[in-house]
Amino acid sequence: MALQATSSFSIHKEACLKESSIFGAPLSTHVKVDFTSSSKSKKEFSQRGALRTQAVATPTPTANRASTDGKKTLRKGTVIITGASSGLGLATAKSLAESGKWHVIMACRDFLKAERAAKSSGMTKENYSVMHLDLSSLDSVRQFVANFKQSGQSLDVLVCNAAVYLPTAKEPTYTADGFELSVGTNHLGHFLLARLLLDDLKQSDYPSKRLIIVGSITGNTNTLAGNVPPKANLGDMRGLAGGLNGLNSSTMIDGGDFDGAKAYKDSKVCNMLMMQEFHRRYHEETGITFASLYPGCIATTGLFREHIPLFRLLFPPFQKYITKGYVSEEESGKRLAQVVSDPSLTKSGVYWSWNNKSASFENELSEEASDVSKARKVWEISEKLVGLA
Ligand SMILES: NC(=O)c1ccc[n+]([C@@H]2O[C@H](COP(=O)([O-])OP(=O)(O)OC[C@H]3O[C@@H](n4cnc5c(N)ncnc54)[C@H](OP(=O)(O)O)[C@@H]3O)[C@@H](O)[C@H]2O)c1
Repeated sequence: MALQATSSFSIHKEACLKESSIFGAPLSTHVKVDFTSSSKSKKEFSQRGALRTQAVATPTPTANRASTDGKKTLRKGTVIITGASSGLGLATAKSLAESGKWHVIMACRDFLKAERAAKSSGMTKENYSVMHLDLSSLDSVRQFVANFKQSGQSLDVLVCNAAVYLPTAKEPTYTADGFELSVGTNHLGHFLLARLLLDDLKQSDYPSKRLIIVGSITGNTNTLAGNVPPKANLGDMRGLAGGLNGLNSSTMIDGGDFDGAKAYKDSKVCNMLMMQEFHRRYHEETGITFASLYPGCIATTGLFREHIPLFRLLFPPFQKYITKGYVSEEESGKRLAQVVSDPSLTKSGVYWSWNNKSASFENELSEEASDVSKARKVWEISEKLVGLA
């Protein structure tokens, strides 16, 4: 059930204090296998000698088909989830796959890790497939989109979930295209992916097609967690306009000195701004529902894998017993799965949150995370950075 937020400024008890880095070196596997369960495949060896299975077009059936008793039934929806190899993405994939109503495409940088995660979480083969996607490379994003289009499947929901967080990094690291890694992966990689797949979503005949971009409380300075320093702040975006490359521009969106925790929070502000900008530009014309969410503090996920051991030890009990903002991976997966498929969550332009009874409500974004002119500026600069303008 969706509840309406009543206050315009809310301090959330579900404080998720400093999250942590998960990024070491990119773990992209050399094995590139792109396939779907509904596709016929032709195998070929790539130049690197790795086995490559290339999807051959198999059109998706129309959304409603008549069953033997004449009633119309809904076909399985197809949902792409980025970063579905662990944490929130995996729990969501599992929840949707188990419903039997969805075919989940796990878009992951580490193919084997994703396969193992799907198997060990009990997902059955007919409900998922894994496709390679490294969001820290624009070429990889384009290749993923080309592979998906070639598969001939319809796209009904896209979930931009993957993220890296580098709060203890002393020096910036970069994507393949030279952008600071957190914003380059979490925002720019997803921005290109969503833009390139928008036409596929438009063409879907599924009753409710959706584009979901995972946000965070930590990017919202109208919350307690969002006020833990360093705070998100995009400033005048001189660093973003300069390409975040650390050469002729700062690595930080606002032009300041590198700070990994702030870069993550800034990237989440971009995620939430882009959801709203997509909504303003495309909702009326396409009927696509654009949504973001804060799933709760999932203190046990890989997002915190690079934090100091003491933090990783104390963070989950702190969230469970002090802030009471803790949610299990399973519960967070159900929440995101709800945003994917619940017929009552079709409202577009909404940032969903859940109260302590696990009821969803439309939450308020901070002033910056709902700033219309900043959203437009992030969109326009990002278009140039990813080669769309
Ligand atoms: N945990 C929380 O408390 C919390 C709170 C609010 C919002 N969130 C949001 O929830 C989302 C999921 O985070 P999580 O907590 O589930 O963390 P997680 O378990 O670390 O999941 C992050 C996922 O992103 C993937 N990823 C990282 N870099 C990638 C790249 N370059 N290309 C493709 N995939 C990449 C990771 O792949 P590998 O498995 O290969 O590393 C992993 O599957 C994020 O958007 C995060 O901001 C989390």
